[in-house]
Amino acid sequence: MTFHDLFASKQKNSGSNQNLWPVLKAITEASVQVSDDLNRAALLDNFLGAQGGKNVQGEEQQKLDVIADVAFINAFKNCGAVTGIGSEENEDFLAFDTEKSNNAPYVVLFDPLDGSSNIDVNVSVGTIFSIYERTSALGSPACLKDMLQPGNKQVAAGYVLYGTSTMLVISWGAGVQGLTLDPSSNEFTLSHPDMKMPEKGRLYSMNEGNIKVCESGIADYISYCQSDDNDYNGPYSGRYIGSLVADFHRSLIKGGIYIYPDVPSAPKGRLRLLYECNPLAYIAEHAGGLATTGRKRILDIEPEALHERAPFFIGSKNMVEKAMSFLS
Ligand code: AHG
Ligand code: MN
Ligand code: MN
Repeated sequence: MTFHDLFASKQKNSGSNQNLWPVLKAITEASVQVSDDLNRAALLDNFLGAQGGKNVQGEEQQKLDVIADVAFINAFKNCGAVTGIGSEENEDFLAFDTEKSNNAPYVVLFDPLDGSSNIDVNVSVGTIFSIYERTSALGSPACLKDMLQPGNKQVAAGYVLYGTSTMLVISWGAGVQGLTLDPSSNEFTLSHPDMKMPEKGRLYSMNEGNIKVCESGIADYISYCQSDDNDYNGPYSGRYIGSLVADFHRSLIKGGIYIYPDVPSAPKGRLRLLYECNPLAYIAEHAGGLATTGRKRILDIEPEALHERAPFFIGSKNMVEKAMSFLS
C-alpha cells in the first residue's frame, strides 16, 4: 500500500488533520532527494566533508547537513500547508511570510540530517521531524511562539532512516507506521504496519565514553545491565551507532534503551528537545514505549528556546522505568 493510500484509509476513520497530507508529501519528496544524494555523495563533487562553518550549536556543519536543510525547507515552503519552520541548522526560526503561507495551518521543527558525523564513514543517518498546528492567527506570519509548543501538542512526528534501505516511520496519532522506499518507483510503501515497541529488551545504547563523568546512578544502571542480577540473569548487549535515529529504530524494533544524560560538556544533555527528543518521544509513546529526561516525561516539557536541550532516556517501557529507578 502506498503512503497516500494508507493516509487516506486511516483518515476515513479518524477524520482529523485533513490538511496534513501536503506536509507529509513534502517530507517524502525531500527525503527521496536526500536519500539519493546520500547514496551518490562519494561520487559527486562537493557533497562529502565539512561545509567550513559551524551551526548555532557550535558544531561543525557537514555539506550534506546544509544540502538536506535546503531540500526540506524548499519542500515545506512549496507545499502550501506550512507557515514556518525551525531547523537545527538555522539559528532563528523561519517564517515563509507569503500570502499563501501566512494562511497555512502548520509549523515543522526538524533535524535535517541526524548523525551527520557518520556520513563520511557510510553509516546510517536520518531526518527527524515534528509537526504542530500554529498557535498564531491565520493570516499572519509564523512567530516564535508557534515553534515553542510542548511535545504533547504534536499532531504528527517521525523520522526517515537512511539505512540499508530508506524507511519512513511516522505517526499522526493513528498508530506508528513504517514505510520502505522502493527505489524503482520512489514511492514509500507500507512495510511495517502498526509498529509496537517490545515492553522489554536486552540492548542498551549509550556513549559509554561518558560513563565516568555522568551522575553515578547511570553507571549503576549500566552495571545492572552488564550483571547477572538483571531480569535476563546475564549481560545485556551494548549497541551504539552514534546516529540517534538508527539507535532508536533498533530499540523500536527489537526492544532496548537509549540514554544520553547530561554530562559536563553538555550540562543540559546533548540532544535537542524540539527536533530530536520530542518527535522520537511521540513515536515511542504511540508504539507503547517511554521517553523521559530520567525524571519527567519529555512530551510535557514547556520549551523556552528553539535549540534547547534535554537529557534523554527513551525506549522499551520497562527498561526506561528501571533506568529511572537508579536516579536519586
Ligand atoms: P546531529 O548529527 O544532528 O548533530 O546529531 C548527533 C547526535 C545524535 O545523532 C547522536 O546520538 C549523538 O549526537 C552522538 O553524540 P556523541 O558523539 O556525543 O555520542
Ligand atoms: Mn541530530
Ligand atoms: Mn543534524
